[in-house]
Amino acid sequence: MPERSPAPDAHPSAERPRVAVLGLGRMGTPIATAFLDAGYRTIVWNRSPDKVEALAARGAVPMATAAEAVTAAPLVVTPLLDHAAVRQALGTATAALRGRTVVNLANTTPDQARDLAAWTARYGAAYLDGAMMALPETVATASGFFLYSGTEEAFTRFRGALEVMAPAHYFGTDPGRAEIHDLALLGTGYGALAGFLHSLALLHGTGTGPEEFAALAARWLNGLTAYLPELAREVGAARYADGVSTVDLNRAAVDGIVELGRASGVTAAVHEPLRDLLRQRSAGGRGADSFSSVFELMRPRDAPLL
Ligand SMILES: NC(=O)c1ccc[n+]([C@@H]2O[C@H](COP(=O)([O-])OP(=O)(O)OC[C@H]3O[C@@H](n4cnc5c(N)ncnc54)[C@H](OP(=O)(O)O)[C@@H]3O)[C@@H](O)[C@H]2O)c1
Repeated sequence: MPERSPAPDAHPSAERPRVAVLGLGRMGTPIATAFLDAGYRTIVWNRSPDKVEALAARGAVPMATAAEAVTAAPLVVTPLLDHAAVRQALGTATAALRGRTVVNLANTTPDQARDLAAWTARYGAAYLDGAMMALPETVATASGFFLYSGTEEAFTRFRGALEVMAPAHYFGTDPGRAEIHDLALLGTGYGALAGFLHSLALLHGTGTGPEEFAALAARWLNGLTAYLPELAREVGAARYADGVSTVDLNRAAVDGIVELGRASGVTAAVHEPLRDLLRQRSAGGRGADSFSSVFELMRPRDAPLL
């Protein structure tokens, strides 16, 4: 289990705002615990009341309704299931929202985040959308981080409290931007995780067990992160001539993965799309360009270069 980082002392105790945590599920419970550990007066509410007991025993103030919890604190964080759950919970508390800052930590789409921002504004609340790049066990540790977008003044005012949960990154006033970056990071991760599971399928029955391979894969992925800045530089400059790893070299490698899968009865669904992009680049006379140049086949045609 990662070590919990000490709470930043951005708010001296007298200035620590009261915090209401609505939703005490897998994420909400460690979030409320982190606020308690950092000395914040922590008000808690959960739809199923049994989940408040352990936190109340640690000093949290339990409320019977979401409206009472919102009334009790200027800062309201909502690690609830989804957009509908947030609308439902806050929908019972509209009379208490004026002057509050709502930090929505439920996963939503960018448009749902914008919708919630407009909806809370109607009741006089400031809105920050938050995306949690963390697992329950990495809340309030150095491993997790949260993304925010929405009302800048609210982010500045409550930054110290937000950083109790995780280091905070602010992406501007469009409430949808945190969720866009959340999806971009998830998309990056899913590419790697799908590749990992596919590799376990390739190795199935070969004598290398999943745990043994996981250790190797972690080492490999760790090393690959050093390649990201180079890819980013090439894409940012739209200059692909000098990359160390070419389209043709990677096409041969990806062909090899697809062929091994075919021979072993393993699906090609994970790597075929990448193989097709590499083949397209190669057929267009771009085989000597850097691997990063497949970006040119991914980006929207009418989008300006980064
Ligand atoms: N778990 C993770 O690893 C993780 C990581 C990053 C982000 N997230 C995101 O964090 C959010 C919370 O996830 P979680 O894992 O903590 O979920 P969870 O353990 O299932 O907890 C969901 C919470 O939402 C409440 N809830 C659900 N529907 C509700 C409704 N209609 N009205 C009021 N409350 C409602 C639940 O209350 P009850 O107790 O009454 O059911 C519970 O407090 C999700 O958006 C998730 O995508 C999760």
